[in-house]
Amino acid sequence: MRIPMTDLTVEYTSLKDEIDGAIQRVVQSGRFILGSEVEKFEIEMANYCNTEFAIGVSSGTDALILSLKACGIGPGDEVITTPFTFIATAMAIAHCGAVPVFADIDPLTYNIDPGLIEPQISSKTRAILPVHLFGQSADMDEILALAKKYNLKVIEDAAQAFSGEYRGRKVGSIGDAGCFSFFPSKNLGAFGDGGMVVTNNAEIAERVRMLRNHGARAAYHHILPGFNSRLDAIQAAILNVKLKHIDCWSSIRRQKAELYSELLSQMDGIEPPFTAEYNTTSANYYTVRLRNHHLNREQLRNYLTSEGIETNVYYPLSLHLQEAFKTLRYRVGDFPESELAQEQVLSLPMYPELPDEDISYVVDSVRRFESRVPSKLLV
Ligand SMILES: Cc1ncc(COP(=O)(O)O)c(C=O)c1O
Repeated sequence: MRIPMTDLTVEYTSLKDEIDGAIQRVVQSGRFILGSEVEKFEIEMANYCNTEFAIGVSSGTDALILSLKACGIGPGDEVITTPFTFIATAMAIAHCGAVPVFADIDPLTYNIDPGLIEPQISSKTRAILPVHLFGQSADMDEILALAKKYNLKVIEDAAQAFSGEYRGRKVGSIGDAGCFSFFPSKNLGAFGDGGMVVTNNAEIAERVRMLRNHGARAAYHHILPGFNSRLDAIQAAILNVKLKHIDCWSSIRRQKAELYSELLSQMDGIEPPFTAEYNTTSANYYTVRLRNHHLNREQLRNYLTSEGIETNVYYPLSLHLQEAFKTLRYRVGDFPESELAQEQVLSLPMYPELPDEDISYVVDSVRRFESRVPSKLLV
């Protein structure tokens, strides 16, 4: 038995003819960067997200950097974000010359706790950067209210949440700009790197468009110091094929998540993911919390590995404790909920084609492990 975290080959096999055809079209067109496939994908993405603009870029990380820069964030500015996320969220802020300022998470959703943002706001704060972690939207109404009160921009890191919704609105379309990643394991994954910025703000859209192409408005006329951050035509062509299936895939992911949660609910000390009543999650990751078992997470992982089951820990070290940010002078204990989550979370295999029997096998394996742990080890 081998159960991977995700299996990208199944999806390809099911769409092989269409994807191969799309790739061939690009190869034969001789146009490999930007061009009509990217333009088509941008229109489809704007329609899907219900935004006026969508701009393809070369990764989710660049989507964040370019959005922040397009919002005017630079040296001397502070941006408030969560410490419990992938490093790219805060790195993007640092790459703009600004300072990431962290606010702790809500232990139920793992997303930034809006109630903890206000104490972090200073005269240098320019933006809030919520992350929709594991596919579930942050509490956007509260965040937008704070942004309005303090005149801050809101940039959504929706890398893990494409197709998810907050109160019926697509994530990424709610703040000033929304950032997506098409890293292969995301709900909508490319065959390499790719990203997208969506926005309803024409000025932000124009600046992102210039920034992704060396700051040029017209060929060889450069308005801003920009980047080479364009989306490849082959990636856009593949994504154009896959986008049509996204609602079906995300809905199946949610069903898989429900099955996991139902089977796990009979077990003590294992907390399935919580979905707030205002959210439709993209279910990008299926992440449980080992409430009573956190001392044994590594043992559980080793046991599952021996049973052929891959697992992962997203994320084992909160961003305020990363060496890359040591100059920010945060310490252990500064964000207790994030630090507790880093000790307790465990992500289990999740992809739309994951057989239900494999989910039962994973849960049975967790149960077998639990029955072997002497009760004195349970905290
Ligand atoms: C929350 C989050 N933000 C940003 C990124 C960066 O996206 P990319 O890998 O496309 O640069 C990722 C990707 O893993 C992510 O999960």
